[in-house]
Amino acid sequence: MNKRYIRRTGATLGLCVIAITCGTANAAPTKGTVSVLNWWTSGSEAKSMNILQQMLADQGYKMINDAVSGGGGGNARTVLKSRIQSHNIPGAAQIKGPEIQQWCSTGLTMNIDSVAAKNNWDKVLPKAVSKYMKCDGHYVAVPFNIHRTNWLWINKSVLDKAGAAMPTDWDSLVAALKKIKQAGITPIAGGGNTWQVATELDAIALAAGGPDFYRKAFVDLDPGALSGADMVTSLKHLRTIQQYSDPNAQGLSWNHDTGEVVQGRAGMQIMGDWAKGEITNANATPGKEIACIAFPGAHTGYSYQSDSFEMFAQSNSDQNAQYAFARTALSPKFQRKFNKAKGSIPVRQDVSLKGFDACAHKAKKEFTAAEKNNALVPTFSQDMAEKGAVKGAIFDVIAKFYNDQNMSAEDAAQEMAHQVQQAEAMS
Ligand code: BGC
Repeated sequence: MNKRYIRRTGATLGLCVIAITCGTANAAPTKGTVSVLNWWTSGSEAKSMNILQQMLADQGYKMINDAVSGGGGGNARTVLKSRIQSHNIPGAAQIKGPEIQQWCSTGLTMNIDSVAAKNNWDKVLPKAVSKYMKCDGHYVAVPFNIHRTNWLWINKSVLDKAGAAMPTDWDSLVAALKKIKQAGITPIAGGGNTWQVATELDAIALAAGGPDFYRKAFVDLDPGALSGADMVTSLKHLRTIQQYSDPNAQGLSWNHDTGEVVQGRAGMQIMGDWAKGEITNANATPGKEIACIAFPGAHTGYSYQSDSFEMFAQSNSDQNAQYAFARTALSPKFQRKFNKAKGSIPVRQDVSLKGFDACAHKAKKEFTAAEKNNALVPTFSQDMAEKGAVKGAIFDVIAKFYNDQNMSAEDAAQEMAHQVQQAEAMS
């Protein structure tokens, strides 16, 4: 054997010893792997997901973060379908609202009742959330948070610069937007894609028509409500908002828009409180420099959604990682850390908000009040109110209206009722 070979082998062995010794500390053999399909790719979203990845790693589990970009999850849903078709099924996938039931019917989902029972989920979760997590009475999905959709984020120094007052209703909002425009600042950051515009209409409709109208239109899909006076007003308000929005917004993301508001290049953003995650991530304080108010109008209400992950059956070893994923996500420690970073409030009702920002406290207070006053509505733009095909029909009409200045609010409302009926008939 040649000397050089022996020397090299020896050196390699030496390195191996070092690697094995070092490796035991850093990369202990994993107790199982869970791949998690999601659409959390903005700065604050990725940070929030890393918290879970780390907490699972600390317990010896590997979490593969399969993040697909695209606010609202349109792209992630497409990827999920193709992964299911090609039998590359994730251990957990971000799915919300009624779609959880739809996926159950594939027979591919996983029962996590044992984790839920051991950790008292029925007790600690609000009914408004837990009802979505079950299929035929069994838990198949784990909720992470409660997000509110109908927020308006306002840069206070922009308001001051423009000499505008904090809006309290629709008219004072329009007056403030007008002053901001006169001051040479973009009044509203938004309008980059249909999901963002739908999110705006979501908040506008709840404020204009109130929770009863909202439920009739978006949950019951009542044609009279979809084409009626409150919908027409909502669409007219959306047109006004469009006129105060950045005309070059096409293609810009929701988190870009939040950045514009934080930097004072735009005055306001209509967006769910995932925007708060970005505000915090940019080292601004929600409730201080950036005000948070429920989108103002004739009515108050709370449109909510819960980010949740449906579990899909995997091989035995990875099942343990899936159980750990579900258990950890609803642990009080994760609930506090994650929701602070994400901008949402804990879905566990027994978790303290100590150390959370003022907007989180407001969210929690108003959620509890809305629950009592029947003013809580499942948000249509974030998949909580209806299944995919119907949501798609509503989004199509919103896009058509937004892109065609000649389309009247009356025509758009009629079209919405018609398209929804068609989609319902086909699904
Ligand atoms: C999700 C949020 C997410 C946002 C933007 C919403 O549908 O519920 O968690 O931050 O989309 O991606």
